[in-house]
Amino acid sequence: MSAYKIEEHTYDVVVVGAGGAGLRATLGMAEQGLKTACVTKVFPTRSHTVAAQGGIAASLSNMGPDHWQWHMYDTVKGSDWLGDTDAMEYLAREAPKAVYELEHYGVPFSRTEDGKIYQRPFGGHTTEFGEGPPVQRTCAAADRTGHAMLHTLYGQSVKQKAEFFIEYFATDLIMSEDGVCQGVLAWKLDDGTLHLFSAKMVVPATGGYGRAYFSATSAHTCTGDGNGMVARAGLPLQDMEFVQFHPTGIYGAGCLITEGARGEGGYLTNSEGERFMERYAPHYKDLAPRDYVSRCMTMEIREGRGVGPNKDHIHLHLNHLPPETLKLRLPGISESARVFAGVDVNKEPIPVLPTVHYNMGGIPTNYRGEVLNANADNPDRIAPGLMAVGEAACASVHGANRLGSNSLIDLVVFGRAAAIRAGQVVDPKAPNPKLNKASVDKALDRFDRFRNLDGAVPTADLRLEMQKAMQSDAAVFRTDKTLAEGCRKMQDVAGKMADLKVTDRSLIWNTDLMETLELDNLMPCALTTIVGAEARKESRGAHAHEDYPERDDATWRKHTLAWVDGANVRLDYRPVHTEPLTPESDGGISLKKIAPAERKF
Ligand code: FUM
Repeated sequence: MSAYKIEEHTYDVVVVGAGGAGLRATLGMAEQGLKTACVTKVFPTRSHTVAAQGGIAASLSNMGPDHWQWHMYDTVKGSDWLGDTDAMEYLAREAPKAVYELEHYGVPFSRTEDGKIYQRPFGGHTTEFGEGPPVQRTCAAADRTGHAMLHTLYGQSVKQKAEFFIEYFATDLIMSEDGVCQGVLAWKLDDGTLHLFSAKMVVPATGGYGRAYFSATSAHTCTGDGNGMVARAGLPLQDMEFVQFHPTGIYGAGCLITEGARGEGGYLTNSEGERFMERYAPHYKDLAPRDYVSRCMTMEIREGRGVGPNKDHIHLHLNHLPPETLKLRLPGISESARVFAGVDVNKEPIPVLPTVHYNMGGIPTNYRGEVLNANADNPDRIAPGLMAVGEAACASVHGANRLGSNSLIDLVVFGRAAAIRAGQVVDPKAPNPKLNKASVDKALDRFDRFRNLDGAVPTADLRLEMQKAMQSDAAVFRTDKTLAEGCRKMQDVAGKMADLKVTDRSLIWNTDLMETLELDNLMPCALTTIVGAEARKESRGAHAHEDYPERDDATWRKHTLAWVDGANVRLDYRPVHTEPLTPESDGGISLKKIAPAERKF
């Protein structure tokens, strides 16, 4: 493939992606003296973390009593008992440390009167192991927390001399014959050159794949690029059937209205003006976890109590809140409501609808960020040379449903954990292994094949077909019928990949080619989501199966593993980790407290 100009680079670590997790990993690796590159398809501060609004969960106890064990309990219950217990303990225990580090790096958190980090309530976060009132655990920088974090982490990474390759699109992992990740191939979008990065550790931190759906709060850049690369390398994806719908996407536009809006006192109403969440969740009301609130909203609409001329959405009220609260705590969503819904939040309710927001599934890792090349016989086998962090990864701390504000904390806790682990296992003095020529050639051949695709189907048309199939058949509620239909449609869609047409053959700012490569990353994500969902005959967290309305722990308390080969998906399962890191005798949580139970709110 000598037609391409290829530059070679050698690093200890290459992080792919510069959102919250990618930047926290990059910063941590560079701080430890590892020669670190961060390869990112968008400018770091434009990564999708910039859109994270409401905040980051940590039991700081700034606004009232809190405890890491309460946070862990809420996370276990929120996950509907599918999360790995060791990872969930790690998240809850390390969260305060990780937030104070952010504060010391310079994140401009909102403050209480006495100067502490301001914290607000969020859905599913409680006191006293779910017995007490909601807790104020979510640390916030107004409603622009992700924005504040990204700017700080990028500045700190530059200070630590991490090297950034900005607007480079990573296309494929380079793997040795015996399955060690050795590097990554990337395409520099502004001059068309190709770049081969050799690394002792590659860390996909590429975010979620919300754009597999028609309506998502995710940026158009959220195309599961890391998941696609890992699937093509023959490694499994995990728990992909669990897709989170955020209760309050703006109706029609899909933009996020933070759960912090309900944390600050906002509430939902139906066409009868009823605060219906009081009926479904008498204790936590509008602050029940998001899978539950999304289902309740969908039921209200289905039963004819939606608002608007078509009775197809719900109202979110903030108009009873003091204007100064809206200005101080929720300025960003006040603007979004004005721009995208034409609503003055001081006067009118915002039209909202459950909207795809987050992927609980992803690249399986342990709590140190190491990728697992797992199967039923080797459930914890590590894939050498490869880590994954952030929404691209499945650690698994969110299990079947993530609590709001547990995403930002996942990014920094596990970005940091990966850096700590890399510091232990990557030897900066060791030479980089020679890249496997067969793997390099395969990656170049694929790039060239996509560039020259000359079929009949425009990329945008096939993408839309995929998005519509996913939106209708892998929705808030699923049935055997919709899922079987979804599998059939997605097989058909995936089968048309070979018939795509790329019109632009150039290499410079070729968005046609880039969107086609992105579609090729979305495809395994969508396929594994629908096939994993079709196979799971129970309801758990975000997977609400109307033909199997109960959770079935005896059969289904296990992680789905999915391998993709073209349009075909093969499934296997691995057990959930049920043991915490710390025994109760050493100050760990009591196993009795986190034993599986019915989720009530
Ligand atoms: O509602 C929000 O601000 C979103 C937060 C999250 O997904 O964690």
